[in-house]
Amino acid sequence: MRLLVVGDIHGNWAALEAVVTEPFDACVCVGDLVDYGPEPGPCVDWIRENALYCVRGNHDHGVAQEVVVQGVSGFRYLTAVTRPLTIAALSGQQRRYLADLPTWQMFKAGGKRYMLVHATPRDPMDEYAQPDPQFWEPRLRGLEVDYLLVGHTHQPYILQVNGTTIINPGSVGLSRDGDPRASYAIIEGETVELRRVEYPVGITLTGLEARVADRTARAMLTDIYQGGPYVQKWRAQGRYGVSAAAAAGALEPLANTNGKTSTVTPSKTD
Ligand SMILES: [Fe+2]
Repeated sequence: MRLLVVGDIHGNWAALEAVVTEPFDACVCVGDLVDYGPEPGPCVDWIRENALYCVRGNHDHGVAQEVVVQGVSGFRYLTAVTRPLTIAALSGQQRRYLADLPTWQMFKAGGKRYMLVHATPRDPMDEYAQPDPQFWEPRLRGLEVDYLLVGHTHQPYILQVNGTTIINPGSVGLSRDGDPRASYAIIEGETVELRRVEYPVGITLTGLEARVADRTARAMLTDIYQGGPYVQKWRAQGRYGVSAAAAAGALEPLANTNGKTSTVTPSKTD
């Protein structure tokens, strides 16, 4: 079975459309379908119709509950500008889907136990998790899962801690790691791969021009979508808090030791 893991789509339909040309047997989503990007509706619809499981991200929650954000700079500013636009762009049914998403989900595939959560099991929607074994070790105690799929940081990584493989597929629609391509992960047998795909960013920029009147927010998002100076400045501020060498180690793909196909079945989570 070929499992496609996506997350942090953030209303970037052109990016999601490019990612889902990837062949897959099942798709799961680690949340944050909305905010920032100009086309949240098609993203919500695609995930609702095609993802076997999806969990609620902090942005999904904020949009569903109409949480007002008053940010004056950085990503909080972008959230403050784009949230009302996102809420207006979604139908009641689409927002109810976001509101009803669970904050965590367990399932079994090919005899392996998976957990899906947007941030961390300790703080499912907001905790910012680095690819750091010391950070993760106490947060994995008692979970007994083979794979923990997370998002939130928009930083792709694979990390093995005490028998659990933590996978962050990175961001489909708002990369912040200096590579503006859409990011996702594929799990097949025992192999985990982090992948990037180029997408027609011009479509997203055109949508931005049409839907976001705030010139500052538009300029910032245009820069982010193209991996420009704003992203570089954000990285230079050390937001990731992890050395390049440590990140490179965390990104090492796992060895392929098993090519068995398998089926996904829901499991009780006790
Ligand atoms: Fe996000």
